[in-house]
Amino acid sequence: MYEGDIASVLLTEQQISDKVAELAKQVGEDYQTKASAGDLVLVGVLKGAVMFMTDFARALPMPAQLEFMAVTSYGSSTSSSGVVRILKDLDRDIAGRDVLILEDIIDSGLTLSWLLRNLAGRQPASLEVCTLLRKPEASKIDVPVRYVGFDIPDEFVVGYGLDYAERYRDLPYIGTLQPTVYSS
Ligand code: XMP
Ligand code: MG
Repeated sequence: MYEGDIASVLLTEQQISDKVAELAKQVGEDYQTKASAGDLVLVGVLKGAVMFMTDFARALPMPAQLEFMAVTSYGSSTSSSGVVRILKDLDRDIAGRDVLILEDIIDSGLTLSWLLRNLAGRQPASLEVCTLLRKPEASKIDVPVRYVGFDIPDEFVVGYGLDYAERYRDLPYIGTLQPTVYSS
């Protein structure tokens, strides 16, 4: 599947699942003693975070409510502008709840910084971010990210939810694309 399109495997299925288990264990420990009402609310950012969200929720040693948001940032397909529009909002109120945003990848951090401001305005009891991947650019902007799976080089990656032109999301691993894919 997609074999000729993949230049290299950056993270294997095993590496991803080990990391997801490790992140879920850490979050479980950190939130065990939280006092606010209701279960932890996981907010997955569509579509990229879907695989991460479903694996993470099942690895988490505590109950969690699954919520999704879809946002789009104006700009080209491989970079973001920070101007964000909500395509699908949360179904429920998060006031007074512990909220953990699950992201697939943070690049410039512009999308996330907008999302954090937006969700913080809804008065959650707490608001943190857990991202599977982080690119070097992300360290330049001041976005508080409590949980990071992997710091990766500044290359465009696909798989495990991440797409190029809506393809490759269904790959079980994360890899880079052959240059020919971009030029065809
Ligand atoms: P910013 O720059 O706002 O961007 O942090 C975050 C969003 O940009 C997309 N993105 C990628 N998508 N492979 C992808 O498939 C990548 O290497 C990549 N880098 C950034 C992604 O939608 C992310 O949520
Ligand atoms: Mg995308």
